Amino acid sequence: MAGGRRVVLGVTGGVAAYKSAYLARRLMERGAIVRVVMTEAAQQFVGTATFAAITGTEPVTCLFGDEDVSPHTTLGQWAEVIVIAPATASTISKLAVGESSNALTATVLASRAPVVVAPAMHTEMWDHPATRRNVETLRGHGYTIVEPEPGILAGGDVGIGRMAEPVTIADTVEALFSAPDMAGLNVMVTAGGTREPIDPVRYIGNRSSGKMGNAIAEVAVARGAKVLLVTAAEPPEETAIEVVTVETADEMAEAVWSRIPEMDVAVMAAAVADFKPLTTGSSKIRRAEGIPEIELVETPDILKGVHETEPRPIIVGFAAETGSLDAAVSKAKAKGVDLLVANDVAKEGSGFGSETNEVRFVFGDGSVRDFDLMSKREVASEIWDAVMNLRTEP
Ligand code: CTP
Repeated sequence: MAGGRRVVLGVTGGVAAYKSAYLARRLMERGAIVRVVMTEAAQQFVGTATFAAITGTEPVTCLFGDEDVSPHTTLGQWAEVIVIAPATASTISKLAVGESSNALTATVLASRAPVVVAPAMHTEMWDHPATRRNVETLRGHGYTIVEPEPGILAGGDVGIGRMAEPVTIADTVEALFSAPDMAGLNVMVTAGGTREPIDPVRYIGNRSSGKMGNAIAEVAVARGAKVLLVTAAEPPEETAIEVVTVETADEMAEAVWSRIPEMDVAVMAAAVADFKPLTTGSSKIRRAEGIPEIELVETPDILKGVHETEPRPIIVGFAAETGSLDAAVSKAKAKGVDLLVANDVAKEGSGFGSETNEVRFVFGDGSVRDFDLMSKREVASEIWDAVMNLRTEP
């Protein structure tokens, strides 16, 4: 899809710079023509020879060239997209104020191309108010931020700040070139695990992190859809998503049902509690009162209500299973969904809280497709590909 498109890859001085070589390779595999610009610090982590060998062209490292008097303007004007990966806190701050003292930041300033920024730094630096503000400034410039992920950082620390995987960054770059195939579509995504209060301090909940639903919402926006995310978890930072935050199954049901008539597609990724306490105490239940008996009643079946809407949207349901996924086929049928995404939440690397997921698609006609372990973003892309196919099928 990125065939023949001109991509400038900016590399700054972080340990993730070694992954930029993979990114250059991935972009070229997708047909892009890649030119690299590096800061001095980046060269402490990877040599120019690596990028020269991969791209076939010497990286630009200096504001002054032997043959070209102004390499940064030549490169900036040549670029159709600039992607900076990894982007250190220092480079982000320079970009935020339009500072152009090195070849990389000068190239950005000398370009009208869209800019993709993939930050990588220690958690403390990422969380610092100065960085938060600078990142917001970049979003204000219209730059696309590929959020860092949790993982092992330089020196063995663990936390948020690891550069996103090259494939995710390549997808983001590619999305800028590809026609937004979901433009004009209204989609609703539910996410997170509902909390059913027992008393003011306790609730019945589940381990859903909302990450799968967030990825589904983000990919839909990237593909041009109008997205409403009804979530019981932390929403993504993507500002183009309309977010309604809820806590309980009842609140989620109300938010979903009131907006469903305007939707073309509903993806129900939320882990909705099936039962809630019949009554909620207005004050904390005390230990001295003895072991409480909590009577449970059913919560509304949100998906069922969506299914009964006329005309009904395309419905994607989720099935959180533990162990075998064999029940998924009958569940898909019972729920009347067009696609059921089943996963074994007890399996390593799959389900609640993890960055990855291993899923089985069960379609409305009973056909099944199994996938290997993928990032949740890749799963989201596969879901939308499948939905778009369903829309064009007779
Ligand atoms: N769901 C819903 N409303 C509920 C419970 C679940 O809309 N009260 C939706 C979920 O968002 C999901 C699908 O139904 O898309 C399946 O959820 P799951 O909990 O796997 O199915 P259940 O019917 O609750 O079956 P189980 O007995 O396996 O829990």
